[in-house]
Formats: sequence, structure tokens, C-alpha cells
Amino acid sequence: MDKNYLAQQYNSKKTLFIKGSRKYDTKSITIFHEYINKFDIQGKKVLDMGCGDGSDLLIIQKQGADVFGIDSSAEMIHEAQKLFSTEKFSTCDFTQTPFPNHYFDIVVSKWAFQTASDIQSIYKEVIRITNDNARFIFLVAHPIRQFIEKTVSPKDYYQQEIVKSVLFDGTLVVEEPSHTFQEYFSPIFLSRFQILEYAEINDTGTERINGDIYPSFFIIHSAKK
Ligand SMILES: C[S@@+](CC[C@H](N)C(=O)[O-])C[C@H]1O[C@@H](n2cnc3c(N)ncnc32)[C@H](O)[C@@H]1O
Repeated sequence: MDKNYLAQQYNSKKTLFIKGSRKYDTKSITIFHEYINKFDIQGKKVLDMGCGDGSDLLIIQKQGADVFGIDSSAEMIHEAQKLFSTEKFSTCDFTQTPFPNHYFDIVVSKWAFQTASDIQSIYKEVIRITNDNARFIFLVAHPIRQFIEKTVSPKDYYQQEIVKSVLFDGTLVVEEPSHTFQEYFSPIFLSRFQILEYAEINDTGTERINGDIYPSFFIIHSAKK
């Protein structure tokens, strides 16, 4: 499974994802925006990394923010550009965004970073493009959920494996590299961001495995140090 396939899979899965997300992702959408709305984003420059069709940025824009989006899927960016002025959106990888140093006040991301194999390269880019005191809020598939999704036996928590997430009542399967907590709470992250809020949420809307109760995603609100 090459890295490019993982980053490009939403080109062909765009329609199923957008439809499924609107129907089943209500819990994560609600919590994501509750986190963002806890502080004043009026006039702030906000980047959504892995913005998909831009629907989250539409909500953020209504709060008065100046919004930007990046996504590796040209199809997704095409959808987002229907909602916004086109120059605010770029088709690029998380790790190679076109923005100057210290450009953003807030970086957000939902259901996207777990698609990348290397989380540290994303953090380095977020550190580069954010200003001092910037906020960084992201929501990702929970490592425990990805551990349950592993199929190689015996399951090895530490070994990265491409896992399949069966989403939205089985209507969509996406492939993602598994991750550990120490990748997310890494020295790079902890040395540059202070965690202000954190939650692990069970969300049966996204995926159910064997009827087990487990956290489907976690969300972090952090401030740049
Ligand atoms: C599950 S979708 C989430 C979209 C949106 N954030 C939402 O919550 O509806 C993941 C998005 O991340 C994008 N993505 C995946 N890998 C990426 C990468 N390496 N760089 C930039 N975007 C990527 C995908 O194209 C897709 O649009």
C-alpha cells in the first residue's frame, strides 16, 4: 500500500464519504465545533488540514473567521471551492502546505491525520505555519479502535499496519495506517503545544466492531508554547 494511495483514496470515495458523513458523523461534528467555539475566532486566520468538502470551514466562517483549507484530494478541494473563493484552498499534502511561516492563528483538523503514516512531519508543518499562542485542535481515529481493526495475528500495537475502517453502516471502507498514542503525544508535540482539553469519545455512528464499546476518536485542544 503506497503512501500516495492513502492520500488519494478520497478522490474515488468522495461522494460516499460526503453522504455518509452528513448522516452518521453528527456526534464528531458537534464536539469538534464545541471545541472550536470555546474561544473567540472572530477575525482569526483558520486553516483546516484535510478539509474535505469544506463543510466544517463553512461553519467556522459563520463565526467570523478568515478560513483556508488544504486537502490531498483534488476532488474534495473541487467541492470546497464551490462553497468559497478558490484561492483559499489548495490541493497539497499535510506536510507541504503553501503558506508562509507563522501565518495562522488556529489550525484545525477532523478525521484526517490518521490517514498519514508519519504524524511527526505533520506536527513540524503545523509548528512552521502557526504564530505564537496559536491554537491547534484536531480529532483523529482512536489508536485503540485501530488496534481492534488490526488483522495480522498476533496483533502488535507498536507495528504500523494498514487497517480498514468500515464506516457509515458498511457503506464505505477507508484504509489508514494504524498509530500509537506515543506518536500523537510525541516529544515534538509535547514540547511545542500545551494540552488544554482532551476527550475520548465512543461514536457508534462511524463504526461498530463486534458491538464492543471503545473510543472511536479522540480530540485535543492545544495551545502553542
Ligand atoms: C475522512 S476525510 C475527513 C474530511 C473532513 N475533515 C471531514 O471531517 O469531513 C479525510 C480527508 O483527509 C484528506 N487527506 C488524507 N491524507 C491526506 C494528506 N496526506 N494530506 C492532505 N490531506 C489528506 C482526504 O483526502 C480526506 O478529504
